[in-house]
Amino acid sequence: MEREGRRFADVAVVEGQSGSVILLSDSLSDPLSSLRFVERQLLVAALIGLLFAAVVGYAAAAMHARRIRRLERAAERIAAGRLDEPVVDTGEDELGELAVAFERMRIRLENLDRARGEFIANASHELRTPLFSLGGFLELMADEELDEGTRREFLESMREQVDRLAKLATDLLDLSRLDAGRMRVEHEPVDLGEVAYVVAEEFRALADQQGHPVVVEVAGHPVARADELRMLQVCRALLDNALVHTPQGTRVTMRARADRQHAYLEVEDEGPGVPVVHAPHVFDRFYRAEGGVASGSGLGLAIARELASMMDGDVVLESRPGRTVVRVVLGAAPTSVAAPEAPAPVFT
Ligand SMILES: Nc1ncnc2c1ncn2[C@@H]1O[C@H](COP(=O)(O)OP(=O)(O)OP(=O)(O)O)[C@@H](O)[C@H]1O
Ligand SMILES: [Mg+2]
Repeated sequence: MEREGRRFADVAVVEGQSGSVILLSDSLSDPLSSLRFVERQLLVAALIGLLFAAVVGYAAAAMHARRIRRLERAAERIAAGRLDEPVVDTGEDELGELAVAFERMRIRLENLDRARGEFIANASHELRTPLFSLGGFLELMADEELDEGTRREFLESMREQVDRLAKLATDLLDLSRLDAGRMRVEHEPVDLGEVAYVVAEEFRALADQQGHPVVVEVAGHPVARADELRMLQVCRALLDNALVHTPQGTRVTMRARADRQHAYLEVEDEGPGVPVVHAPHVFDRFYRAEGGVASGSGLGLAIARELASMMDGDVVLESRPGRTVVRVVLGAAPTSVAAPEAPAPVFT
């Protein structure tokens, strides 16, 4: 209701018994102006809030963009093969986690790159030695004055170097297959006694030539879950070591046995053994303990262990002067039979 140009809110209340009317009236202009004031304040606060949010949002977005660009640059560096600079981001959010994953990848690639470089350097070095030796013999052979005996001797040495090169080429191929995950192994029942006999027979001529008695002992019926061809290869590497890294005439024992869970193939020799400082490294690629015979490339045990691991097994070394045992441990096949009593020598 308007009075004298101002708006009033009126309420009439009738009093019960007397019938009189009480008129309550109040000006509307005061609450309205307070309402407008509150409205204005709210608007200003909203604007300030909006502005603040925009500034903070922009700053956060700019910071995120900077971190993303930094990660992008790191990824480009890694892709270009520059692996020496670490990927750093101290944030604890998703971007920080991404940076940690990038850094892990960088370290792994750096290690792989280093291993690849070392591998190529070692392989080239190993290839060079027999090649140089062959080259030298070829030059000597060109001498027309050479007598028949010396010529035959040179030819024999050249054949040894060619054998060495062929073995090295096979080993390098196996390693590259292992690295590329292209080495397929079976997990079939393999009679370890049979493996020991076959390999002992293969090496018989060489062992006789060096005066090494080779004894095969088989206890029970040890059958492993393995790959027969690869087990033959592992066994050859171990017997080769027992013949090559020991003095002539010392005895070598190949032992096949099993317990309820495992099947074992051991090659034991009576040589000087592997010095304690070298023992932890003999399974590394290209590692040769000092004093080892120079003709090897240091790959035999490395390949043996990697093959055993592909057959879910392992190769372990126990060595002291006078007794060295290299043991292949594999899972026993269901047909495997453990023998309770000590094995008797079967073959010499
Ligand atoms: N039965 C052993 N007795 C003493 N030393 C051993 C024996 N087996 C291995 N070693 C030492 O461990 C090293 C590594 O053995 P591994 O078979 O890997 O290489 P290698 O025999 O030198 O060469 P490759 O087997 O490639 O011809 C050898 O150089 C040798 O010093
Ligand atoms: Mg060897």
